[in-house]
Amino acid sequence: MINKGIILAGGTGSRMSPLTKAVNKQLLPIYDKPLIFYPLSILMLSKIKDILIIVNKGQLDQYKKLIPNGKNLGINLSFIEQNSPRGLPEAFILGEKFIGKDNVALILGDNFFYGQGLTSVLLKSKKIKKGAKIILHKVLNPELYGVAKINSKNKIIGIKEKPKENYSNYAVTGLYYFDNKVIEYSKKLKLSKRNELEITDLLKKYLKKKQIKYELLGRGGAWLDTGSIEDFYKTSNFVASIENRQGLKIACIEEIALKNKWIKKRNIENAIKFYGNCEYSKYLKKIISL
Ligand code: G1P
Repeated sequence: MINKGIILAGGTGSRMSPLTKAVNKQLLPIYDKPLIFYPLSILMLSKIKDILIIVNKGQLDQYKKLIPNGKNLGINLSFIEQNSPRGLPEAFILGEKFIGKDNVALILGDNFFYGQGLTSVLLKSKKIKKGAKIILHKVLNPELYGVAKINSKNKIIGIKEKPKENYSNYAVTGLYYFDNKVIEYSKKLKLSKRNELEITDLLKKYLKKKQIKYELLGRGGAWLDTGSIEDFYKTSNFVASIENRQGLKIACIEEIALKNKWIKKRNIENAIKFYGNCEYSKYLKKIISL
């Protein structure tokens, strides 16, 4: 069972410059809330309460203004600053102390997940005791991602980073579950051609030991990209369409905390005061008046 999670929210966001020159990418809006709320909500929906957010050096203050601490959400939140991003597995090296002797989940700060069956996939995935688990989603442009090849027995038989040739349409999404060995394996990784520690190399270590499994986020689910400005707006529009149709918010972290029974109505009232007079607060008011 996994009860700790890391959100990797570092990175320079260079593809989105100049938007990201002064502000961390994960603090930019996906429709009505900062991007970071979405991966945070995924960990909270997974009933993971111990959360470490890794941010860029010098950007901690920006986060503290938005999420001063986890108390009002009923979670234990800590932050680490990263000097310069050196690839995803660095999360496990920087987070060594936080992870301790436990297993851990990692979600990339810019990944967006949505879907009917999502919570059950999340709760199932966190049950791993040994090895690794990844979440796969079918995409039309696998060359942009890490991909996994599956055989007829539903086993992963190969993993490649951004394959140029036609290899597999199953993208490895930015949500991973690992046993405690991940720290040791990450430390042994070598820098790739793009001068980074590669998550794909880490996954290959587990594959070699036949210790990697997957869950599929099927066609009823959405895994959207926020890599480029274009993708950012597409994801934003997706959230706007759903929220304005249903009147329900995606990734309202206070609502999830309340549903998980981690907080009381009093905490929602605090949040309303904190956010001030805005649409998000109006939604929170509605939740506690039900
Ligand atoms: C990274 C990983 C890739 C994964 C993707 C998910 O890609 O290297 O395997 O599919 O995140 O968002 P990058 O953002 O470094 O291009």
